[in-house]
Amino acid sequence: MKCKPNVALIGFMGTGKTVIGKQLAKRLDKKFIDTDSLIENQAGKSIPLLFAEEGELRFRELEIRVIKQVSGLKDVVIACGGGIVLNKINIDYLQRNALITLLKASPETILERVESDGEERPLLHTSNKLKKIKELLSYRKPFYERAAELTIETSFNSVDDVVDEIIRKINSGTR
Ligand code: S3P
Repeated sequence: MKCKPNVALIGFMGTGKTVIGKQLAKRLDKKFIDTDSLIENQAGKSIPLLFAEEGELRFRELEIRVIKQVSGLKDVVIACGGGIVLNKINIDYLQRNALITLLKASPETILERVESDGEERPLLHTSNKLKKIKELLSYRKPFYERAAELTIETSFNSVDDVVDEIIRKINSGTR
């Protein structure tokens, strides 16, 4: 597991990919990259606006383009948008150079985090967010599990603890 130059963090919204990714990049002395930010730069608009004006399909097309671009880089930690597992081509690209690491959290923890991190998620624009999170999670679970080379639970641990665990697992080759 040690030999891949990149780490790609996948997982549902609110599992901590960005905050953990930034910290992990520092510890591993790699550059941090966030696919949602790259999509926003390339589209010239925020993700909520992109969804509203051009639809989810256009967002997914740009997502594939960005994943293809970043999959060719070396020594980066990539925080991926929560839906990248929906298109297998994203995983095929990422696997070339990145150790695909799944971050997991309970639906309740996810709800708490998405309500407090100030980011707008178009897919959670609904009155019963917890129900929506559970529905999306159960649909996506097999996709996340199939893609993951390494899995970490984040609900009960601090960012530092999660980062320690990822590094320990990378070094020891455990999943
Ligand atoms: C999405 C997750 C979001 C963002 C977009 C779609 C998803 O990223 O890419 O709103 O389909 O789960 P985060 O996982 O960083 O919130």
